[in-house]
Amino acid sequence: MPATTTTRPQLSYLADQMNDLNQRGTHFNLRVLEDEQVRTVSGTMSIHMELEEKIARFKNTEACVVFQSGFAANAGTVSAILGKDDFIISDELNHASIIDGARLSRAKIKVFRHKDTAHAEELLKEIAVEPGHKLLITDGVFSMDGDIGPLPALCDLAEKYGAIMMIDDAHSSGVLGRNGRGTADHFNVHGRVDVQVGTLSKAIGALGGYVCGSRDLIDFLYHRARPFLFSTSHPPSVAATCIAAFDVLEQEPERIDKLWGNTRFFKKELGALGFNIGGVRPACAPS
Ligand SMILES: Cc1ncc(COP(=O)(O)O)c(C=O)c1O
Repeated sequence: MPATTTTRPQLSYLADQMNDLNQRGTHFNLRVLEDEQVRTVSGTMSIHMELEEKIARFKNTEACVVFQSGFAANAGTVSAILGKDDFIISDELNHASIIDGARLSRAKIKVFRHKDTAHAEELLKEIAVEPGHKLLITDGVFSMDGDIGPLPALCDLAEKYGAIMMIDDAHSSGVLGRNGRGTADHFNVHGRVDVQVGTLSKAIGALGGYVCGSRDLIDFLYHRARPFLFSTSHPPSVAATCIAAFDVLEQEPERIDKLWGNTRFFKKELGALGFNIGGVRPACAPS
């Protein structure tokens, strides 16, 4: 069997990275280990910044910070931006990392029935006169049921009640919106979502998570998000893989069309066999 070779041009700079490291006089494997540290000490390489800039452009936001996982991105962000006098208004089926972040923040947690925007409004009304910050949060595509969150209606509520709007797009990025830009792009609510979280472990096929938003938000997270501050950064190979994957999304949208074609086929055939198939979640088994 012939040896596997890297033929994709998007991955060619992995080799450049290796050459660069070798020229610095250390064996590649050891050099990579030497570079691993928390981001704020010596763990930030130019390739980490390159990845963050690439994701921010892709998501049409000012800035981005990459975490070690999507779990760390959610939990680290919610616990950093809220405190004990604040409120989180959260869909009952939101991901565990949001729930854990909310608990860590010590904010008061208000849970609305799944996708029930009238219930979300009731909860927001109840706390309208409270001085604390309010964070309204939904998954873009729900991880267990595979359905899409009612983002435009939630954005309306966030604006009406002065809440921060946050989405967890772990299952929507690479799937929904132009070139897989996610739920905000799918619903064309650019500029109305303050915090967009994503993972690099699903459609991107590597490891990590990210938060996109304003420059101020990201600078704040650089200084206050505990997983970013106190846990080792990605090896450069992971960052390079993610950059290559975003290139694929930008340059080969036909892959997303194919994904949706496969989904339609899969759902049609399962439906014909009598299965109840809700949700969109094309990359996984439907609920
Ligand atoms: C909705 C949602 N958010 C966040 C995560 C966590 O992502 P990661 O696996 O990158 O930690 C997952 C993982 O399954 C998820 O389904």
